[in-house]
Formats: sequence, structure tokens, C-alpha cells
Amino acid sequence: MARRLLIVWHSATGGTRHMADAAAQGASSEAALAVVLRHAAQATAADILNADGYIFATPENLASMAGVTKDFFDRTYYAALDRVNGRPYASLICAGSDGQAAARQLARIATGWRLRPVAPPLIVCTNAQTPAAIAAPKQIAEPDLQRCHDLGAAIAAGLVEGIF
Ligand SMILES: Cc1cc2nc3c(=O)[nH]c(=O)nc-3n(C[C@H](O)[C@H](O)[C@H](O)COP(=O)(O)O)c2cc1C
Repeated sequence: MARRLLIVWHSATGGTRHMADAAAQGASSEAALAVVLRHAAQATAADILNADGYIFATPENLASMAGVTKDFFDRTYYAALDRVNGRPYASLICAGSDGQAAARQLARIATGWRLRPVAPPLIVCTNAQTPAAIAAPKQIAEPDLQRCHDLGAAIAAGLVEGIF
């Protein structure tokens, strides 16, 4: 059966969505891999259990991962505990100016699941800090999209080659 990469994402103004899409595109270069993109509100414990590796993509809100992303982990954490040990994961964080707190929080949850990080958190800052800039639709610069694409390609290659 084809190996499966699950990308769980949430985005309010588009930045994280562009990052997750770029990672999915990169991962899709591996024809032997099934790439599943799920919005965090729709993702379930079954999605987690049925995947061989993960990319978690979230905005940072109020020095935390976005509430929708947190709710996804709240709903799935105990159903997946001790059933996903050792599987690889990477994280994508879209932030206005920081992103470290969301990255740390996500890493702690992944550590609880005994997942294996395959890369440092990939943080992109959109420089949104005023109310107008925060509310505006976000574009992600091409070099940052390329980094997301490359991360998706790398985790996909590792899954297909059996490195992870
Ligand atoms: C309620 C709220 C709180 C935010 N808090 C932070 C924060 O703590 N640190 C930060 O770097 N950016 C913060 N931001 C900025 C967002 O991370 C930024 O706008 C990002 O581009 C959102 O991602 P998205 O376009 O995928 O929704 C906040 C935005 C909102 C709406």
C-alpha cells in the first residue's frame, strides 16, 4: 500500500495555506506517495493513525498555535498516543514577527506523540503587526514558498525511500 503523508493546516488570512500548498506540491513529486491535505477542523484521529508522516502547518496567534490547530490536537492526542511512535514530522509556522512560541508548543505535542522531527520548524514572518496588516490577505515570498516546497519534497523522499 502507498505510504501516506498527512498535511494538517489552518490559515485565517492565507499565509499558512500557501505554505502548506507549497509543501504538498513538493511532496507530490513522489508519485509513490499519497499526499493528504486536511484542514485542521476536519482532520481526525483516523487521519493521524492512517498516515506514515506528518506536516503540521499553523499560524502563530497570541504567542500560541492558532486555536483551530490546538483544537485538532486536543481532539486527536489521546486517541493517537502510543500508536504513532517514531513517525516523522515537520512543522510550518506562519507568524507576523515571531513564531517561536507556536513552534515550541507544537514540538512539545509531537514529543508527547514520540514523533521524530525531520527538520527544524520552518517559520515564515509576514511582518503583519497593525490591525489592517493582520486582517489583510497574505502572500508568501517565492524563496519562502520554495523552502516549504523543498521540505515537502524531503519528507516525501524519506518516506518513499524508507529512510524514516
Ligand atoms: C489574534 C492574532 C494574534 C496574533 N498573534 C501573533 C503572535 O503572537 N506572534 C506573531 O508573530 N504573529 C501573531 N499574529 C500574526 C499572524 O501570525 C500573521 O498574521 C500570520 O500571517 C497569520 O497566518 P495566516 O495568514 O495563515 O492566517 C497574530 C494574528 C492574530 C489574528
